[in-house]
Amino acid sequence: MTELVSVSDEGGVRTIRMRRPDKKNALNAEMYAAMAKALSGANLERGVRCLLITGAPGAFCAGNDLKEFQDMAETGGGLDGPVIGFLHALAACEKPIVAAVQGVAVGVGTTMLLHCDYAVCGTDAKFSTPFVSLGLVPEAASSLLAPRLMGHRRAFALLAMGQPLDPQAAKDAGLVNAIAAPGDVDALAVNAARQIAALPPEAILATRRLMRGAGKDDIIARIDEEADHFRDRLQSSEAKAAFAAFFNRKK
Ligand code: COA
Repeated sequence: MTELVSVSDEGGVRTIRMRRPDKKNALNAEMYAAMAKALSGANLERGVRCLLITGAPGAFCAGNDLKEFQDMAETGGGLDGPVIGFLHALAACEKPIVAAVQGVAVGVGTTMLLHCDYAVCGTDAKFSTPFVSLGLVPEAASSLLAPRLMGHRRAFALLAMGQPLDPQAAKDAGLVNAIAAPGDVDALAVNAARQIAALPPEAILATRRLMRGAGKDDIIARIDEEADHFRDRLQSSEAKAAFAAFFNRKK
């Protein structure tokens, strides 16, 4: 159990809220584990018809906790364990997922959105994936899903060059459906999740499965392939220097 993620069920919607605002909702191992459990559990619970992933005002998620990346770099670790558990659970989730994004969405804060079915963001949202400048490679099957969603060139600018997307660019790229005032984001997303939860449950599941096609296995294979590279990159001097620079930065 962690207090850094809350999970609540209401009206067929399971809301997963990241609650580590002092660290801009950077995800640590216990948060990944709690989110994975909430996602996998939803597959088995008939009463859960839709999931909603949300964060805090100004901070959807600042990506993986860089301290934990630093520790992995020192101990020779990789994304195994809770991170991979979360990514697999996300890819294997059978129920529709809605996301509500206010503020920063960095790294996995952006790449998890590629697994969602509907997303609302605030006018304050900023999506970025600075993997390469951190000496890393993309994860969460984003190297497969982002080019598929927005085309190679836009995905390259985002994933490889680390160029952020503002709300309108994210909408144009197909990453979000709607943009709202930050204070309205959660309510709009809840509304969408309730609409989905009110649909005939068998038909919506079958439709989602058809739309995703045979892709689940490819997605999980890509998550694992990326994780192999990620492990090597974590040990690189490029990554170690980037982590140190973040924690030594002057505010
Ligand atoms: N890992 C660990 N701690 C993080 C973090 C992360 N990914 N993102 C933010 N934090 C911490 C900061 O260290 C700071 O902690 P402190 O108050 O104890 O010093 C706190 O969260 C607030 O962050 P701060 O940088 O002061 O907020 P900001 O509004 O100026 O900037 C971000 C927000 C998200 C743009 C900035 O924190 C950032 O770039 N974070 C790193 C994002 C990242 O590279 N993620 C990994 C992607 S693979």
